[in-house]
Amino acid sequence: METAAPAAVIVAIDGPSGTGKSSTSKAVAAQLGLSYLDTGAQYRAITWWMVNNGIDLTDPSAVAAVAGKAEIISGTDPAAPTITVDGTDVAGPIRTSEVTSKVSAVSAVPEVRARITELQRSIAASAATAGKGIVVEGRDIGTTVLPDADLKVFLTASPEARAARRSGELKGADVKATQEALIKRDAADSSRKTSPLAKAGDAVEVDTTDLTLQQVIECVVTLVEEKRISQ
Ligand code: DC
Repeated sequence: METAAPAAVIVAIDGPSGTGKSSTSKAVAAQLGLSYLDTGAQYRAITWWMVNNGIDLTDPSAVAAVAGKAEIISGTDPAAPTITVDGTDVAGPIRTSEVTSKVSAVSAVPEVRARITELQRSIAASAATAGKGIVVEGRDIGTTVLPDADLKVFLTASPEARAARRSGELKGADVKATQEALIKRDAADSSRKTSPLAKAGDAVEVDTTDLTLQQVIECVVTLVEEKRISQ
């Protein structure tokens, strides 16, 4: 007997940095044959372009004026996600400490958010149209970008666990300094006026502090499968 193909599921995964969002989202998408979108990489990419073009990032009107200039293209294969700006591969440059320290200021500008949100919605719509489904990770996906997502997950972890994970990723970075930088960035991302980092009312919260990455992945895969069955 022929079985109907599962509907294209749209999954939103939000939370602060160091909660395992990227690793979890990529693995869940790969395991379930879905596309994957790292929205933080898009905000980093536009920040990289602004730094490269000498834009005064302390002046929101200067940032707003050029919010539409850079052409940002995200590759959504979870096994090999890519990001380019005006045709240049920026996967490495967007992870520098300079971009990391400036991305919150750029991403707080409403014109930047409007532009990147539109891009994200069109990528999610294409994945849905292709019948594939997508995992989209970020800070405001469940609340603002895709409020009708089939499943919303909000990942949390203690500040200590988040800092320890991030300094591990940054190979030997000082845990205390990393923790302070993380807390500062989360405070900026949570307190901005336009679509701050926030848990959607209908999101499932998963505290990852005492879980291994594998356990978090299994938990989210189970949540997606439950949604698919109930659809
Ligand atoms: O996930 P990340 O650390 O690469 O994200 C970089 C920054 O981008 C983060 O400090 C806040 C911003 N961001 C955002 O404002 N909205 C999103 N959906 C994703 C990231």
